[in-house]
Amino acid sequence: MSRLVYVLNGPNLNLLGKRQPHIYGHETLADVEVACVALAAELGLSVRFHQSNREYEIIDWIHEAREVAGAIVINPAAFTHTSVAILDALNAFEGLVYEVHISNVHKREEFRHHSFVSGRADGVIAGFGTEGYLLALRRVGSQLPV
Ligand code: DQA
Repeated sequence: MSRLVYVLNGPNLNLLGKRQPHIYGHETLADVEVACVALAAELGLSVRFHQSNREYEIIDWIHEAREVAGAIVINPAAFTHTSVAILDALNAFEGLVYEVHISNVHKREEFRHHSFVSGRADGVIAGFGTEGYLLALRRVGSQLPV
């Protein structure tokens, strides 16, 4: 299986670092991408890192990943709680899926407690800040065949 990983980010995560820093921290999404690419190199993985505010773009990247990637690390952001379409796309992907949330969604409003994506994810990380992406990549690194 391919050691290529798609790291996908949903709506408003382009504002990471500026948006509600008391919840999401001060690191930007560009910082997260740099850290992911560096760790991936260490782990012998390659990464395609994307963010979109549009549901269909995330779905298209999942379809693209079906053809080439061994794993998807996804922070679907608000689409986590609303999107059957993203769940369906992930169900059509045969590799590993890890769901990441920067904040601990279970400690927050009740509408954040349900995730459609968790019904497909092989693992879920929430509340570890942006380090959650790196933890997910480490898990991908140990799960995918070399
Ligand atoms: C989030 C949690 C979601 O509930 C929220 O809509 C986000 C970010 C997180 O990373 O903690 O935009 O996925």
